[in-house]
Formats: sequence, C-alpha cells, structure tokens
Amino acid sequence: MSKRRIAVYPGSFDPIHNGHLDIIHRCRPLFDEIIVAVLSNDEKQALFTVDERVAMIGEEIANCSECRVESFSGLLVDFADKVGAGTIVRGLRAVSDFEYEFQMALMNRRLNDHIDTVFLMPNEEYIYLSSRLVKEVFFMGGNLKGLVPPEVLDELLQAVDRRAAQRAGQ
Ligand code: PNS
Repeated sequence: MSKRRIAVYPGSFDPIHNGHLDIIHRCRPLFDEIIVAVLSNDEKQALFTVDERVAMIGEEIANCSECRVESFSGLLVDFADKVGAGTIVRGLRAVSDFEYEFQMALMNRRLNDHIDTVFLMPNEEYIYLSSRLVKEVFFMGGNLKGLVPPEVLDELLQAVDRRAAQRAGQ
C-alpha cells in the first residue's frame, strides 16, 4: 500500500478568509489528508481566540472529508512530525511574502529534513488578501463580500459586539 500523503497547512488564521480556503481547495487533489493547523501561542494580539478560530475553520471545511483542523503550539515541524505529515503547505501571494517564507521553509528543513515546504499560489482575486487587512477593512466599515465566508463575517460582527460590551463593562 502506498504511503498516505499528509499535509499540514499552518497559520494564524485570525480569521480564515477566502484566500486560505482557496489554498485548502488547491491542496485537495495533491494530498490524502490536509490538516489545517492553527498556531495557539500568539493569542495576545489576536482578535479571535484559538478555539474560535478552530471552530470557524471547522465549519468552513466541513464538506471536505480529507480535511481537519487542529491547534498547535511549539515548533511547527514537531507538530507535523507528530501527525505524520511530510509536507508543510504555505500560500505565496506576492514577492513581498517570499523572503519571510523562504527563511521559514529553510529553517524548518534544517530542523527536520524529512519535512518539505511547498508553496501554492491562490487565485489572483485573493493575491492582496490577508487576515490583517480583513480586520482593518471590517473595523473601518468596508465591504468584505466575496473576501470572507458569510459565517466569518457574522463572527466579526459578534466580535465587535463583544468589544463594545467589554468597553461598557470597564
Ligand atoms: O499565518 P502566519 O501568521 O503567517 O503563520 C505563521 C506560522 C504559524 C506558520 C509560523 O509562525 C509558525 O510556524 N510558528 C510556529 C513556531 C515555529 O515552528 N517557528 C519556527 C519556524 S521557522
């Protein structure tokens, strides 16, 4: 029996957007199993908790039988090793992403030479999209239709309500 091709698609996903979902979709013909891995030790500046991010992603990949979502802390290569993944997938949007991604890929390979990083390019319509811009545009009242799934838009609205309630309680 041939070895199962398992990929880890890591990130902060604060929140997941259509560019991320496009990359997951592109992974499907390439791998038998795709594990979306949410980094859990950067919660301080995040808008959503790790559990909220995992729940949102879980909802978005519910119709992908070979996909699942997990959170991880510590080194990515250790997580990949633990789940039996031979590949780390990263989306590459523009030349500006390259240097950071190149450094990470080479450091990860130095840490574990059995795990390679592959880069996939999202559809051109998402080439400028990032979670940071999603939050910025949302909080300034811009239209995010077609850039995040409707469920994520609902979660953003709820996050605003939570913030307002927290401020009122202060
Ligand atoms: O979506 P992001 O924030 O660009 O994702 C970055 C992520 C989570 C892939 C990266 O920060 C990471 O892998 N962190 C885990 C810690 C680690 O392994 N560091 C060494 C990588 S060079």
